[in-house]
Amino acid sequence: MKRPGGTDEQKRRAGESAARVVSDGDVAGLGTGSTAAAAIRALGRRVDAGLDVRGIPTSYQSRSLAREVGIPLTTLDDALPDIAIDGADQVAGLGRDDSADLIKGGGAAHAREKLVAAAADRFVVVADPTKLADALDAPVPIEVLSDAVPAVEAALSALGGEPTLRAAERKDGPVVTDNGNLVVDCAFGAIDDPAALSADVGTLPGVVEHGLFVGLADEVHVGVADGVDVYPR
Ligand code: A5P
Repeated sequence: MKRPGGTDEQKRRAGESAARVVSDGDVAGLGTGSTAAAAIRALGRRVDAGLDVRGIPTSYQSRSLAREVGIPLTTLDDALPDIAIDGADQVAGLGRDDSADLIKGGGAAHAREKLVAAAADRFVVVADPTKLADALDAPVPIEVLSDAVPAVEAALSALGGEPTLRAAERKDGPVVTDNGNLVVDCAFGAIDDPAALSADVGTLPGVVEHGLFVGLADEVHVGVADGVDVYPR
């Protein structure tokens, strides 16, 4: 469910900007996706330069990359993150007094991403300008127990959504998450009240987690052509 993204340069700028706000001694949540990967690489360079940090990865992908670039790892069992850095598929509400709203889960990692972001003292979102929207209107990724897919799809239709089971690109059958579940992408059109939809979808039996992130983002770093625009909460 990936949408066309921004340039590598925009992602690199956003990632480096977020990596700069990590402090010595921090535990840092490490997000998933190409923009979060830019932040992980930048953090690895800071580790090479002497930064003391431990990372909590949100996926197999971010764990592998963190190991590759030399970031020591820990787990939520042993430490809570001081900061979490992650990308987003769509960001709406920048410049408001309250938190920007996000849709995440294009990489099917949103269950662990939300767990880590919610546990962190500070959640920093990294994005490029193609992710910004006036209102959230992208399909919402929903991680679902495989047995529950028909019931959850029926319930999502009753909520006014159009659910589609996410197909794998390089295997027959559906995408299977790092947690062994399936992903339903549900289009709702423009989402007027993300908090209400988050509550409605989150309470459906069989839903493990969904990709609406409401009230979680503390700041958003947007890589642009000539620098980074930082939006505080
Ligand atoms: C992973 O499940 C997602 O939430 C990603 O954080 C999101 O898809 C952004 O990825 P890109 O930075 O690759 O666009």
